[in-house]
Amino acid sequence: MSVDPLYEMAVQKLASVKKVILIASGKGGVGKSLVAVSLALALRNKGFKVGLLDLDLHGPSTGVLLSVEEKIKGDKHGLVPINLNGLEYMSLALLVGDNPLALKGDVKERLILEIFAETKWSELDFLVVDLPPGTGDETIVPLRLIGGKAVVFVVTTPSRVSISVVTRLLRLLRDEGIPVKCIIENMAYLNLGDRVVKPFGESEIEKVAEDFGIDWVYKLPLDPGLEEVIRKRESPLSSQEWSESIKKLAGFLAEKLKS
Ligand SMILES: Nc1ncnc2c1ncn2[C@@H]1O[C@H](COP(=O)(O)OP(=O)(O)OP(=O)(O)O)[C@@H](O)[C@H]1O
Ligand SMILES: [Mg+2]
Repeated sequence: MSVDPLYEMAVQKLASVKKVILIASGKGGVGKSLVAVSLALALRNKGFKVGLLDLDLHGPSTGVLLSVEEKIKGDKHGLVPINLNGLEYMSLALLVGDNPLALKGDVKERLILEIFAETKWSELDFLVVDLPPGTGDETIVPLRLIGGKAVVFVVTTPSRVSISVVTRLLRLLRDEGIPVKCIIENMAYLNLGDRVVKPFGESEIEKVAEDFGIDWVYKLPLDPGLEEVIRKRESPLSSQEWSESIKKLAGFLAEKLKS
């Protein structure tokens, strides 16, 4: 069987990247983009060389979270990510602007392959990829392409609705033979100052993690301070509670990937 040249180019372009952290979830609106941006910034702040790729073809939102104004530059050798104080950043939104994209499955698959095939990353310790919701081509193509370098994080809220959708993604990943490093339970708790409450009650996430043999569940707070910093176009890491949790997550991740 002949290998697709675009696929080969994409694999070659990723040769300069040590680990690719895929932030996935079957469910929409659970905080993938926020986690992807925050984790990328926290890893950069720790001194790692980091890239961030927004693969959400329909609702790219990392640019809003990072207040990116620049347009992407390309030359005949490919696309050069924007440099945001050391964080290399690439998003489909930088290429298409705010125009909505109506794409069929096979066109989407080609577009994703092209983004990987054309983007020239420097030598990176981590490339964080913000995936769109669902279990379609946008999720599957990169997972197959990245293979052994992939470190998959699955994001859910404690809601049974979210966990049931995420469970479908976990099954798909198991069928594809792709291990999941960590389940992130976002909005797991709310700190009220004098006490901590669980806005969604007790969740079933530990049981799900056990069923799928995933031994790392990390809980992130619901942080009411986040929206204010996002509105002020500040980094999500300016919100203290969120920042502390994400920094710990970045520290654990770096430690776990050392071996
Ligand atoms: N822990 C949190 N505390 C406060 N606000 C949050 C938290 N997590 C996410 N949000 C907010 O919820 C909204 C949805 O988050 P985000 O866009 O990151 O989700 P998503 O999973 O990427 O969505 P989509 O599936 O549409 O890509 C955003 O406004 C974000 O700022
Ligand atoms: Mg998103």
